[in-house]
Amino acid sequence: MPSFALPPGYTRIRRVGSFDELVATPFVGGVNALCWERTLPGDFGEVVARIGATEGITTLDEARLAALPVSAAGSAAIGVLIEDLRLLRNQGLAPVLDCIEAYPRDDDANGVSTDVYSFHADSAPVQADTWLCTYHGAPSEGLRNEEARRRVDIPETRAALLRSFGGEDNEAFREYLSECCYDLHYTPVAGAQPFSFGVGNLWRIAVEHPGSAVPPCIHRAPETRPGQEPRLLLIS
Ligand SMILES: [Fe+2]
Repeated sequence: MPSFALPPGYTRIRRVGSFDELVATPFVGGVNALCWERTLPGDFGEVVARIGATEGITTLDEARLAALPVSAAGSAAIGVLIEDLRLLRNQGLAPVLDCIEAYPRDDDANGVSTDVYSFHADSAPVQADTWLCTYHGAPSEGLRNEEARRRVDIPETRAALLRSFGGEDNEAFREYLSECCYDLHYTPVAGAQPFSFGVGNLWRIAVEHPGSAVPPCIHRAPETRPGQEPRLLLIS
């Protein structure tokens, strides 16, 4: 059984069967997300519980993980985490493993919040991809490009941003939108069906960068709800 469900006709995601395939598969034909679907052994909830409740975000390294007093199931989960960190580092990446109670919020008065709870594309000045896996807690969410609209293309939002910029809708304004990351944020169109990245799956998703062959994969962090389990997330 797939651990995540896609809207019918969704063609931007390709499932792969191994880490090597995840690394080697190109983004072509409109595909902008690759998913290595996994059912992982171990108890990641125990790992999160042992880390202890903290406000905000706790970044974990191998030494901290190895020092946690856990059962065999917790130890199996830690083995997976350390192996995933190793696999990504071997690709020259710099993965970060975070235990997340909540991210900082951005309540922007212009109507474009630029925090990770808002659907967005990642961007980079050079060729790059984003890698991510949710091991525990609510998974990341995706939005197909066809069901997304850039917030800066919504007339009322653009007008509000232009007022705050205080100039004309010209090249300087577009630079301002880019510098503030406003142009990377999206809103779902009516009837859109966001999809879940699922738990345990390792994803490689397309980033907005010069010369990219595909549109970026639009995604967000799930809404934080009171009493919710912290998330355990690998990201690179
Ligand atoms: Fe992101």
